[in-house]
This record gives sequence, structure tokens and C-alpha cells, in this order.
Amino acid sequence: MQKLIIKGGNRLSGDIRVQGAKNAVLPILAASVMCCGETVLKNCPRLSDTYSALRILNFLGCSAGFDICITDVINIKADGLDRFDIPDSLMREMRSSIFFMGALLGKTGQCRICFPGGCDIGSRPIDIHLAALRKMGIIINEANGGIECTGKPHGAKIALSFPSVGATENIILAAVLADGTTEITNPAREPEITALAEFLNKCGADIKGAGGGHIIINGVSSLHGCEYEIIPDRIAAATYLACTAAAGGEITLCKCIPYHLDAVTAVLEQMNCLIHSTSDKIFFSARKPLKAVNIVRTMVYPGFPTDCQAFIMAALCTARGTSIFAENIFENRYQHTGGFQRMGADIRVEGRVAVVEGVKHLYGAKTDAPDLRGGAGLVAAALSADGISEISNIHYIDRGYEAIEKTLSSIGADIKRVNSDGR
Ligand code: UD1
Repeated sequence: MQKLIIKGGNRLSGDIRVQGAKNAVLPILAASVMCCGETVLKNCPRLSDTYSALRILNFLGCSAGFDICITDVINIKADGLDRFDIPDSLMREMRSSIFFMGALLGKTGQCRICFPGGCDIGSRPIDIHLAALRKMGIIINEANGGIECTGKPHGAKIALSFPSVGATENIILAAVLADGTTEITNPAREPEITALAEFLNKCGADIKGAGGGHIIINGVSSLHGCEYEIIPDRIAAATYLACTAAAGGEITLCKCIPYHLDAVTAVLEQMNCLIHSTSDKIFFSARKPLKAVNIVRTMVYPGFPTDCQAFIMAALCTARGTSIFAENIFENRYQHTGGFQRMGADIRVEGRVAVVEGVKHLYGAKTDAPDLRGGAGLVAAALSADGISEISNIHYIDRGYEAIEKTLSSIGADIKRVNSDGR
């Protein structure tokens, strides 16, 4: 077991090249099982979740792995696909294993999986995914935690009761090789949905409207591999802005897509931070003292992302005044507040609402990452705290950040990764 040791108080300054997006690469890796020939993905983040997806691809008979010469490139050849079942141990490594359901059904008309794993941030059912697939003609048997699906998907009109990101992606995956046309109304509009559609269209699919309120997918008979560059990770980008807001300093984010972050930068501006963007860079300066924000409501894209709630809250723990959060997406996404309180934060949580009274200082403490983004929130809080913090359970953080300690050290943070025996 490893932990992060952080000595707070250093101002952050320098440039960060933003990693490729976790939430884009994972559905695209699942999609690649449907492609004949070679798929080459550039700008892939080396995350534990990426390796989990590669393990699933290889288990299924595909050949998939990071290029031995170019660090951020993944090569996939799916022609050897000879299975449609995924063992429970691989399914439970991450939530995104569920994308293989749509992709395997599209390609083979069969799949045998179990309920996926992932961070414990709420009940995270997959009822919307399953209802949509049933509408597409799939017969689904759920028994003893297992899910057995059979049937070649056919086109269908699907209206989502909630614009679930994962369900939208699974429907797209099942629909690209389906017989006929699938229409999704009220789909998720996150940039990662647009990226998945762009990738699939490059492979020969016919998807229109991704990123908007009505997606139309005309089924095609086959897909071929292609070369595709994974979009920058807007959540990782926001994390480094929040860390700088919390600790103080000035950074430049390079290779990002600033408009993907509009809802987050709007909140950071309300906090008294200065932001200037070009087409692919964000120049960011944290002016102290930070100001409290009246209310931060998490919403589906293009609203404020639930994934950014924890680390923006970390920065607001030492802002002047009272900030209120309303978490509208996941019901159990305030587990990081216990760690913040241990560092001296003044936070009350009532159901989906958290009230943060700014305090003058946080102080270092021993805490455990409760989940991926909550763990990143603890890192941001520790960077602003007086003294030394120890954050355990960092395997959660590794699910979404490529060597977070190296990125933050490169802009002046005092942070190191040690084994639990201190080495
Ligand atoms: C994705 C992101 C995650 C982000 C979340 C919300 C990936 C790999 N993960 O997760 O980082 O926090 O979007 O932006 O892209 N729901 C149901 N039934 C379903 C599906 C979802 O009730 O069948 C509910 C969930 O419990 C949750 C809400 O819908 O309350 C949003 O979930 P969803 O948009 O599906 O998130 P994920 O795809 O799991």
C-alpha cells in the first residue's frame, strides 16, 4: 500500500500538460473490440483504469497494449476476439467495464458479465442501460449478480429518463452495428460522448448529433480501425486549477480544451481567481484571499461537474465567507468532508447539501482517500494546509491521475509517494 506525504504551504507555479481523458479513453477502448484491423489511440493516460480495460481486451482475445516506443499510444488489434464473457474479477476493477456490454453485443450478439465495480459514491444502478438494451431487442437475464445478454441489437427509439453518461455510451456502442436506426432523446452531452462518436465515425460508423439533445445512429455492417487522439481530461485540468487556487500561485495548463471547463472556471472566477484562455491553454492565477461562492450546484454537462465538487470544496475551505454545495448527481459524494474536517475545515452536510464556512487555515492531518475525486480533494486541501498530511488509499487517486505527485511536484508542490513502511 502506498500513500502520499504532502507538506502544505508552497505556492504553485509552472506549466502542466494535461493528460488524456480517462472518461474518453475507457469507452473508446471498449469500442475498439468492434473494429477490424488495427486501432491506434494517441494521448492515452497511463491510469490503473486504462490498464484494467487493456486486461479485459486481452482476456477477450484481442491484442492491446501501450506502444513500446511511444509512451502515450495504445495499439489494439481486435481480430482475435474469441470470447464474450468477462470474469467477475475484471468487471469489478472499474465502473467502465460496463461499456464492454454494448460493444460485445454490437459485435457478437452475446455477452456474459456481472455488475461493475468502481468508486462508492452512490448506488450507481445500471437500470437505464438495461432498459435501453431491452428496447433494442436484447434478452437479458440477471441472476446471482451475473448478467447474461443475447440477441443482435436492432434500432430503436430510446428516450432517457435521465441523461446518464454511461447509458448513452452503451446505447451508442450497441447501436453502431445494429440493424436499422437508433434515436436517443435526452442523451448525455458530455464532451466524452462527442469523442466516442467522433472515434466511431472515423471507424466507419454513422452517428449524428452527439453532444446535442438528439442522437441518431444508423447501423452499419462493419467497422475498421483508425488512428484517433484522445481529448484532454477536463476533470484532471480542473483538479490542477483547484490545487493552485487552494495553495496559491500561477499556472498555465497546456493542451487542454478551455470551453470544456467553462462551468468550473466560472466558479473559480467567482472565487477571485484570474483566468485567461486561448484555444488550447488556460493561464490561471489565484488571488488570495479566495472568496466564498454563494452556491455550487452539480449538474449534467454543460453544468458544473459532480467530479469537480470535492476539489473546488477543498479550495473553498479557506475562502472568506460561506459557500454552499448542492450535489445533484450522486447521493454519496461528500465522503471527503470527513478528511477536510480532520484538517480543521468547518463543514456541515445535510443530505445533498454541504455548507462550508471558510476558516483561516487548514492544518496537516492523516486521512484516507474515500474515492477518486474525493482523494484529489484531499490532495488539494493538503497543499493549502499548514504542516504535513498523509493520504492513504491512493489507489483510488491512481484510477484517474497519471502520477499526480510528479505533476504537482513539477509546479513546486512538496509531495511524495511512499510505501506504507515509509520508503
Ligand atoms: C460518468 C463518469 C463519472 C461522472 C458521471 C457523472 C465515466 C467513466 N464516468 O459516470 O466520472 O461522475 O458520469 O458525470 O464516464 N443512473 C441510474 N441508472 C443508470 C445509470 C445512471 O440511476 O442506469 C444514475 C446514477 O446512479 C447517478 C446518475 O444517474 O446518480 C448519473 O450517472 P451516469 O451519468 O450514468 O454516470 P456514470 O456513467 O456512472
